[in-house]
Amino acid sequence: MEHDPKSEKRLVGFAEDVPSLTVEHLSKGYRRRRGQGIVHAVDDVSFVIPAGTAVGLVGASGSGKSTIARLVTGIEKPDTGDIRFGRLSIAHAPHRSLRELHRKVQMVFQDPYGALNPVHTVGYMVSRPSINYLNMSSAQAAKHTEELLERVGLSPPKQFVDKLPHQLSGGQRQRVVIARALACEPQLLIADEPVSMLDVSLRAGILRLLADLQRDSGLSLLYITHDLLSARVLTDHILVLNRGQIVEQGVTKEVLQHPTDPYTKQLLDALSTPEVVLNPRTP
Ligand SMILES: Nc1ncnc2c1ncn2[C@@H]1O[C@H](COP(=O)(O)OP(=O)(O)O)[C@@H](O)[C@H]1O
Ligand SMILES: [Mg+2]
Repeated sequence: MEHDPKSEKRLVGFAEDVPSLTVEHLSKGYRRRRGQGIVHAVDDVSFVIPAGTAVGLVGASGSGKSTIARLVTGIEKPDTGDIRFGRLSIAHAPHRSLRELHRKVQMVFQDPYGALNPVHTVGYMVSRPSINYLNMSSAQAAKHTEELLERVGLSPPKQFVDKLPHQLSGGQRQRVVIARALACEPQLLIADEPVSMLDVSLRAGILRLLADLQRDSGLSLLYITHDLLSARVLTDHILVLNRGQIVEQGVTKEVLQHPTDPYTKQLLDALSTPEVVLNPRTP
């Protein structure tokens, strides 16, 4: 049979039967570190990520974005409210469904240094999820790993499988993190400020990769950022978060062109150097 590399590429990381994510009246408070009282990190937040769409969650530092990410991935439990991914209840997941949750919902963190174990090779880290979650043999996982590395732009993959994290640039490390997140064929990817610790020159490339992956593989994306312009490139809908509450939401272009909330206007006014995002030719 003729080998069609194009169709194979589409299949890598292809997410099937992606459900919607539904978040309802979610709240989470933390006891203040000093002094008394509670910080309402997330305060009665509701939203939906329709199947296969990219949604941006934007807000200033401290507005509750990472707390929402931890609640949606099941790392932490909400005080009140519900999170469902299809038939899977995330907020009230019984222990036995945690494995299914980890396979379906994957996260890319801000810090690619911290996310990778310094003593493991790229090949080891990217192949583990295929073995653990997809029950692949080591030979199958090795092949899958090469396909994933190719997919995230680490090409030729054979040059990367034996490398340790410290032998890679920041951008390459974040590509490894993305490949590892895709390895168990998730349906929802949560990227929490995935480029904010990278050199400015590398950011556009990683954002473009995330946009391509989301479009080609059909997975849903929750893209978390304090940067409205990168959200414009990557997302169909945005949610604007201020002090734990969603103050505005809608189609990304419309919200950014005609913001109605004073806080969204303030975020737009505070934009510094948007040229990296506005001009895709900028490296
Ligand atoms: N584990 C925690 N203990 C105490 N306070 C926390 C904890 N995590 C977050 N917070 C507080 O909750 C608020 C929201 O934080 P976070 O979700 O990290 O915001 P963002 O990601 O938008 O910067 C902040 O005021 C933060 O200090
Ligand atoms: Mg954060």
